[in-house]
Amino acid sequence: MSIDALMQEAQVAIANAQDLASLDQVRVHFTGKKSQLAELSKSLGKMDAEQRKTEGAKIHALRESITQGLNERQQFLQQQALNAKLASESIDITLPARGQQAGSTHPVSQVQQRLTQFFTKAGFKVEEGPEVEDDYHNFEALNIPSHHPARAMHDTFYFDAKHLLRTHTSGVQIRTMEVSKPPIRIICPGRVYRCDSDQTHSPMFHQMEGLYVTENTNFTEFKGMIINLLQAFFEKELTVRFRPSYFPFTEPSAEVDIMDERGKWLEVMGCGMVHPSVLQQCGIDPEQYSGFAFGLGIERFAMLRYGINDLRMFYQNDVRFLAQFA
Ligand code: PHE
Repeated sequence: MSIDALMQEAQVAIANAQDLASLDQVRVHFTGKKSQLAELSKSLGKMDAEQRKTEGAKIHALRESITQGLNERQQFLQQQALNAKLASESIDITLPARGQQAGSTHPVSQVQQRLTQFFTKAGFKVEEGPEVEDDYHNFEALNIPSHHPARAMHDTFYFDAKHLLRTHTSGVQIRTMEVSKPPIRIICPGRVYRCDSDQTHSPMFHQMEGLYVTENTNFTEFKGMIINLLQAFFEKELTVRFRPSYFPFTEPSAEVDIMDERGKWLEVMGCGMVHPSVLQQCGIDPEQYSGFAFGLGIERFAMLRYGINDLRMFYQNDVRFLAQFA
């Protein structure tokens, strides 16, 4: 075969190679040890010097040009393979993102925030205290000595004779009065613990208590504020009643009820004028100052506001439940 014909055949074969593997076969076929090109090179040995010079140059040129063709085709096929890989792995960043569910504030926290907002606007400060409380601040200072029957109502978790999980946040009121002078205007939100568990009781729940001590407050002022709070919180006109009750640390004491749509009274909080002995105990002169205090269950407010009838829903963290308060 002539050099030109061989050249042409090689060019066609190179152009027809569709991938790197077949191009490799072409390379072996045209430039390998058993190729015609190799044969031609060997034949040079039998030629005389003059012929070898001219034929040698042609064969050399043929080898050069086949090799160049192979290399160019190889580069092209490599680029093509890379482009195909990139195309198959490409990400369309203009596609809409996969939905990610945002969390939301827990209904108990939402209610706590709503209540806090009402009171801070009215000039109350938020105070917090320890959840592991001592007997003195949880009971003794609140006019509940160890033999007092009111202790039985508290279902207390004790650590030892002197330490317990607070059963209400009233201890924070004591702690605040111990270190500050009237006027005192505080709310005390936080976790409290009672050894009790059913549809409407949980061993841990949240309370918000409030305390207002000044020179000239009275039950009427307090009543007005609580009615305002309830109407603002439930966002409607409410029938509210103050029903005489008993707490060792307030005198007089009352329970606040609101009337529901069916005309039924629902108890929403306890309250009263701070007992003179409690003020005295904290170094505040009861002749000069008077105060009122109240305590409410945050879960109870949440249940009434959202129409929830099982307290336990608040602690199960079922996303289907929680998502409704987003
Ligand atoms: N500490 C009371 C309770 O937990 C609530 C309360 C607070 C009542 C303040 C009256 C005044 O039941």
